[in-house]
Order: sequence, then C-alpha cells, then structure tokens
Amino acid sequence: MRLAVMGAGAVGTAVLELAGEYGHDVVGVADSSSGVVEDGGVDPDGVVSRKRKRGIVGDGTPEAVLGADYDVLVEATPTTLGDAEPGFSHVERALGRDRHAVLANKGPVAERYDEVRALEADSGGTVLFEAAVGGAIPILSTIDDLNGQVAAARGVLNGTANFILSRMAAEGIDYEHVLAEAQDLGVAEADPAFDVEGTDAALKCVILANVLYEGTYTLADAEVEGIADLPGSALELAAEDGRTIRLVGEVSDGNVRVGPRLVPENGTLAVSGTLNIVQLETNHAGRLNISGRGAGGPETASAVLADIGRLPELS
Ligand code: HSE
Repeated sequence: MRLAVMGAGAVGTAVLELAGEYGHDVVGVADSSSGVVEDGGVDPDGVVSRKRKRGIVGDGTPEAVLGADYDVLVEATPTTLGDAEPGFSHVERALGRDRHAVLANKGPVAERYDEVRALEADSGGTVLFEAAVGGAIPILSTIDDLNGQVAAARGVLNGTANFILSRMAAEGIDYEHVLAEAQDLGVAEADPAFDVEGTDAALKCVILANVLYEGTYTLADAEVEGIADLPGSALELAAEDGRTIRLVGEVSDGNVRVGPRLVPENGTLAVSGTLNIVQLETNHAGRLNISGRGAGGPETASAVLADIGRLPELS
C-alpha cells in the first residue's frame, strides 16, 4: 500500500520507520513544522532528514501530503476535542477520494463518529482505528471477531496515569513528581492534562461505546474523573487493605464512566507501569482479558500496520 502519514510525532515517525518491513511505501509525511527549526535551519536528525533518506517526496506540509497519490491516509496528528480538527478533515479528504483512512488519532471517532461512518458509507474507502484504543492491544478487532457477542468493556486504558499511580504507590510520592518521568517515556499525550484528567481514557471508552452500541457517543456523554487531585495518602490507605487504585474506564448498559477505582493489589486490573488491560464481557462466554502495551510509538504503529493489513483492495 502507498501511505500518506499525517503527523510526525511518536506514532507517525514509527509508522515511517516500520512500514517498509510490511511491504508498504510511504509517499508523504506531514509534520506541523515540516522539520524546520526555529532559527530557520533544518533539524539534521529530524523527520525531514529521515524522509529525504528514504526518498520521500514533497515538502511535508499537510496540503502537499493530502494531495499525494496514496492508498491509505494514516491519521496520526494529536487528538483534539469538539470538531476533532484537523484530523476529521484529513479523513474526510481521504474518503472523498475513495481512499482508506487508518486512525491513531482518537478525535474523529470519539467526537464525530456518526459523521465518519456516513462519509465511509459514501466512499470506496474503509476507516479503521484499532490504534486509537489501547495502542498495540487488539481490542476493536477482537470485538469485531466476536460478531456482536461483546456486551460491555472495562479496563485500564491510559498508560501515563497507570505509570503515575504505580510509582505513587511504590514510592509514596505525589503525582506532579512522576508526571515528568511519564513524559520522558514518550507515552503521555501532547497535552498531558488529557492523561491525568481522565480525558484520554474517556475518549477510548467513548470509541468503544460507539463500536459496541453502534452509537453516537461523544466525550460529553462520559462521566469523567481523573487522578490529578488524588493524594498519595489515598494509595497508602488502600494498601493497608490489600488494595490499590487504578484509573478504570467502563462501558456498560449504554453508559461511559472513567475514574479512580479501588482494585485488589494483585488483581487483574492492577497492571503496572504503562501497561493497559481490557476486560470484555461476552454474552455467552464470560470475560476475556487482554493486556499489553497501550501507548508508545512502535506499539501504536503496530496497530496501525495491522489495520493496514486488514484493508480491502481499493477498486
Ligand atoms: N497518552 C496515552 C496513554 C497514549 O498514556 O495511554 C495513547 O492514547
């Protein structure tokens, strides 16, 4: 497949690095700065240099990449709320040209899911977005495989918050001190408030609700509480009782909720570090647990590449 990659952050650059291994050609990568650093020079180790080495044409501006000849648009710009721009328009442009769109960006499928589906219905292209929920973990494809048999989902869906809670419990320190460490790991959102206020986990749950209930949920439908105000003492108290606290998202009975929850210290939901876990409640077969790396460049790119492999041939 010929890929046009919108966004050159951790995910976009990982797609650029890994695409060749799976037989794909990257025909353009759009990054907001086009690799131009503040003094007007070009970052020699930056994305422009890597693009040139790979013979990728174009000036790297969004317009140039959107106009390139591609089969799949990979939408990996930062998630935005409300109108979900510019990601939504990128997807619209691809579908308008009967091309596929594969999203790591949560915004368009969390905030404007019905519009994305309507555009897809009128297009020769397909939209897939496994990378938007739980990074490398095959959650949406598992739900799809089960063909309507998943009734509800819950889990730990934000690696940054989980890393912070794990470190707070282990070290007895407050969250501000470990947020910088989480950012250094490259898993935090461009705006880490999304992580610690529960927004990122809520967006993933909204996407799950849209898929499970074929709905038109948006962030406004979610009940959200983050961990920004959680004192270290809450974790100490929980530990006295053999429990700990995790930021848990739940999608059940048509409701979407995210918040800090007490969980058994050695229980399934108490994953450590940046790991995510999702529990799918099935109609006839109990609970499925799927755990793994829910954030990070190569991890999220692996889901993008898996989606690309699932796409039908364009006619
Ligand atoms: N910032 C997110 C996390 C990454 O920490 O899980 C992917 O949404």
